[in-house]
Amino acid sequence: MSAEKLSQEVAALYDNNPAHLIAMLQEIQKRNKNRYLPRPELEALAAVLQIPVSKVYRIATFFKAFNLEPKGEHMISLCLGTACHVRGADRVLEAMAGELGIANGGTTADLKFSLETVNCVGACALGPVAVIDEEYYGELEPEKVPELLQQFR
Ligand code: FES
Repeated sequence: MSAEKLSQEVAALYDNNPAHLIAMLQEIQKRNKNRYLPRPELEALAAVLQIPVSKVYRIATFFKAFNLEPKGEHMISLCLGTACHVRGADRVLEAMAGELGIANGGTTADLKFSLETVNCVGACALGPVAVIDEEYYGELEPEKVPELLQQFR
């Protein structure tokens, strides 16, 4: 779908009302396979709403939830909260980063995985814990990382 068509479709969901710009950007990001806001789509949305592109950019860059760069198909959020940390989450992070060849906060070149760290996902008893595509994986150990990631390749 073209950037223009997508923007028109999403804007129509909100009566083309710029007051709903945040919700529109959330929808565009959600519909994008790599969960980000490509430049052509921001420009197209500004044109549809008849507002300056700079206003759309201001919102897109203000909220941490919006990504301006493509994210991996699979999002790995590894917990480095206290309970996970004392059980060796740092070593799990090292193993994941090494296995994927990216640093914390990075995305693999093939856009398969993004890796980020978070603080407590509410499953402390299972630590170290990672949330991958909204599924919880607990009691992680560095040695288990290759097998864990293999199922998403
Ligand atoms: S500290 Fe990791 S889930 Fe709570």
